[in-house]
Amino acid sequence: METSSPTTPAALDAEAARLLRALLNVDCTPGHPWNYEACRRIAPLTLEINRLKKEKDAVILTHSYVEPEIIYGVGDFKGDSYFLSLMAKQSQAKMIVFAGVVFMAETAKILSPAATVVVPDRHSGCSLADSIDGDGVRQLKALYPDATVVCYINSTADVKAESDVCVTSGNVIDIIAKLPARRILFVPDRLMAENVRLDLKRRGLAKEIISSDGTCLVHDEFTVAQITAARAQFPGLKVVAHPECPPDVAGAADFVGSTGAMMKYVKTTTAPYFLMLTECGLVGRLEAEAPEKHFIGGCRLCPYMKLNSLEKIRDALLAPRPDQIVTLDESLRLRAARCIDRMFELAPTD
Ligand code: 13P
Ligand code: SF4
Repeated sequence: METSSPTTPAALDAEAARLLRALLNVDCTPGHPWNYEACRRIAPLTLEINRLKKEKDAVILTHSYVEPEIIYGVGDFKGDSYFLSLMAKQSQAKMIVFAGVVFMAETAKILSPAATVVVPDRHSGCSLADSIDGDGVRQLKALYPDATVVCYINSTADVKAESDVCVTSGNVIDIIAKLPARRILFVPDRLMAENVRLDLKRRGLAKEIISSDGTCLVHDEFTVAQITAARAQFPGLKVVAHPECPPDVAGAADFVGSTGAMMKYVKTTTAPYFLMLTECGLVGRLEAEAPEKHFIGGCRLCPYMKLNSLEKIRDALLAPRPDQIVTLDESLRLRAARCIDRMFELAPTD
C-alpha cells in the first residue's frame, strides 16, 4: 500500500503556514475565522490529499463557490463553470475530482471520457439543473419545432443531449447573438432568459426567447429593496450581480456578469464598498485575492456547493464509492458533447 514517509511536525507547520498565507483575509464564511490553529487542524488532511493526487494522477477542479480551504488548500484549478469545463477538456489526468456540483462533474466526464471523474458528494445538485430533464426538453421542442435549443451549462447530460448549443453565464449573450435563429428555446433558467432578452434588446437584437421555469435558489432571492437599503447606508457602493438574479435586481446593479467577470470587475474597479449579489464563496475568493476591497455582506450560500468537504475529497481520491463515480451512457455522452463543442466553437476567445 502507501509507502510515503510519515508526516513530520515540521511538514505540518510548513503546510499550516502555507494555508494561512492563502486564507488569512477570508472571513465571509460564518464559523471560519482563519488563524494558525485552524490551518494547523486541517494541514494533515490537505497534505494527505495533495499526496494522494500525485499517487492517483488526479487533478482537483474547484468552483469558486466551494469552501476556501478546498480552493486554496488542494485545488489545482479554480474558477467558473466555463473555465473549469475547459480545464476538464484539456486534462490528461487519470482522475478528475470535481469540487462543485454534479452537473459540473457530468460536464467534465462528457469532455474527458477516459478519466475517472468523481464527485465528493452525490447529493450536490442544483435547483436549475434539477428543474428539467431530457423528456421535458423534448416536450418543449415538440411545441416549438423551429426554435434553436440553447441550454445553460447548469443542466443535466440528458438535457445537453437534447440541445443544439450549450452556454455559460460568461458567453450566453455572445453565443445567442451569433445564432441565426430568431426563436430560441432556452433551458433551464427563466430569469437568465429574461436578462438575456433584455440585454439583446438594448443592443438592438430582437430575439424571441422561450424558457422553461427553473431558477437558482441562491440568486432568485436577491431583491431591489436590498440594493436600495445598501445604497442608502453605504454611499459610493458598487452593486455586482450574477445573471441568474431576477431582471429587476440585475437592472438595479452596477455590473452583471459571470463569476469570472464579477471577479475581474471588482479587482479593476475603485469603490469604497461592494455588495456582491451572488454566492458567498466568490466573496471569499475576493477577500483572499483582493484584500484591499471592502464587502458589506449580503451574499448567500448555495447548500449544494457547501456539501463538498476535504474529508469527502480525500475519501473520493482514496477509494471512490460507486455513488461518487460519474458514469454516462456513451451515446448520450456523444450527443451531449456535440452541444458543448458547439459552445467552444462559438464562445469568444478572450
Ligand atoms: P458560473 O457559470 O458563473 O460559474 O456560475 C455557475 C453557477 O452555478 C452560478 O450559480
Ligand atoms: Fe445551482 Fe444556484 Fe447552486 Fe449555482 S448557486 S449550483 S445555480 S443552486
